[in-house]
Amino acid sequence: MDYKLLIAKEIHQHVAEHLTEEQIFDLLENPKHADHGDVAFPAFSLAKVFRKAPQMIANELAEKINHSFIEKTETVGPYLNFFLNKNEISSAVLKEITTQKDTFGDASIGEGKNVPIDMSSPNIAKPISMGHLRSTVIGNALANIVEKVGYKPVKINHLGDWGTQFGKLIVAYKKWGNEADVKADPIAQLLKLYVQFHEVAEEETELEDEAREWFKKLEDGDQEASELWKWFREESLKEFMKIYEMLDISFDSFNGEAFYNDKMDEVVELLEEKNLLTTDRGATIVDLEKYNLNPALIKKSDGATLYITRDLAAAIYRKRTYDFALSLYAVGNEQSNHFKQLKAVLSEMGYDWAEDMYHIPFGLITQGGKKLSTRKGKIILLEEVLNEATNLAMEQINEKNPNLEDKEEVAKQVGIGSVIFHDLKNDRLNNFDFVLEEVVQFEGETGPYVQYTNARALSILRKADVELDLEEKLSLDDEYAWEVIKLINSFPDIVLTAFEKFEPSVIAKYSLHLSQAFNKYYGNTRILIEDEQRNARLVLVKATTVVLQESLRLLGVKAPSKM
Ligand code: ARG
Repeated sequence: MDYKLLIAKEIHQHVAEHLTEEQIFDLLENPKHADHGDVAFPAFSLAKVFRKAPQMIANELAEKINHSFIEKTETVGPYLNFFLNKNEISSAVLKEITTQKDTFGDASIGEGKNVPIDMSSPNIAKPISMGHLRSTVIGNALANIVEKVGYKPVKINHLGDWGTQFGKLIVAYKKWGNEADVKADPIAQLLKLYVQFHEVAEEETELEDEAREWFKKLEDGDQEASELWKWFREESLKEFMKIYEMLDISFDSFNGEAFYNDKMDEVVELLEEKNLLTTDRGATIVDLEKYNLNPALIKKSDGATLYITRDLAAAIYRKRTYDFALSLYAVGNEQSNHFKQLKAVLSEMGYDWAEDMYHIPFGLITQGGKKLSTRKGKIILLEEVLNEATNLAMEQINEKNPNLEDKEEVAKQVGIGSVIFHDLKNDRLNNFDFVLEEVVQFEGETGPYVQYTNARALSILRKADVELDLEEKLSLDDEYAWEVIKLINSFPDIVLTAFEKFEPSVIAKYSLHLSQAFNKYYGNTRILIEDEQRNARLVLVKATTVVLQESLRLLGVKAPSKM
């Protein structure tokens, strides 16, 4: 329920010649102190037109205001403060949420238009890194959020499945690898071969030439090279799928870099037609000096196309295929320059839709403050992290609730959910340290805390074991209930803010606040005692679960009903 809008409407009735409803709405403030009411109107905005002191205007308005949802008004200096009728508002809010259920907070600003989201995008033959995990969970949450406000998300895994590294891999495989080992543990074996290649190549530099030759063969469609490439890709993808299944995240497309191989010539032709190409020491570039950016490298001197060339092809392909309203890229902060160049080249090409492309950068996950690196094989294996998180969750369940049904499943939901939540609760640009033991705690600012709050609320409802009555007046006016009601009522605004900032952390932080407020309420209220407010209290509990579950769903975190 938008009570600010209601107050704007009420004020508007009395000053209609001077201010529009929207203007009034924008002027309304949220007082910091509870004794200044719930909403404040600064009357000095009317001083000029009325040629009166703001205080007098506020006083005169105060006398005219009369609405069942407004308990009283008070003037303090130039401000007219509104105190809402908690009983009326709580009743309206609780009915709205419990009837709308998971559609509460839906918006239609997207008008069903497509929003491709470039997300996850790991590199073939290498493990999914913590950075790719961030891209995966941020991208997935953004997909849920844009869908909530009415767009149609298209989740695209832009696999790193092309490039000179495949030349290296083929050489290494032919020299030291064998089929059985790769089949048994594809990523580990391929990574080992890759690392071995670099170690040996430090001494035997001719290996680099061999690798270049094999990549050239691959580009020319040589059968042996192509078959090996295809096989590496399939085996790697199988491994990635395990992780996506654990996270319960799916994709609409796995068109990676290689998908654009046959679309490169057109890109180069288009750039040529528009006279954007120049040569620099044999390489073909687009000059971006007027954007204050380094030139975009389109083709190397040997004719090989580059990462950005593929991204140009991909952007154009996505515009043609999806006619997108927005096009998002959940990719680490370290690629900011790349996406600036990408947008600049597309603008130079005359594509004004480049403005609808947004790089959604994020910071690093660190350990002991240090960056994790894959180069020398020093990597955290994501699968292990997720399994370990599940084990830690199981330990806590065994301590707290050893007889829980479906323990295994709940431990997964809590363990994996905790990793996702931890990733999303920080402003995405912040770097953050990852200490698994802290992430899986049931108390503190964690995912399990929110999950636990929801499960506890559901258990109250099970205990009450009654049909909730939504017809009767749902009056609640104590301070703890009111905090919860104001918070659940603000959920639609929270969704909009998360969308406008492309920032899932807005929802994660909100779910923590709501959990804290609910636990305070729970700690200070005897919810189940038999009195005339029992039904209203239970509806409040129910409405809280609706909003907590929807918040978790948007983040991609499961909400077990018992834990
Ligand atoms: N594969 C790249 C990496 O791991 C990320 C790709 C991001 N997406 C894109 N369209 N460039 O760094």
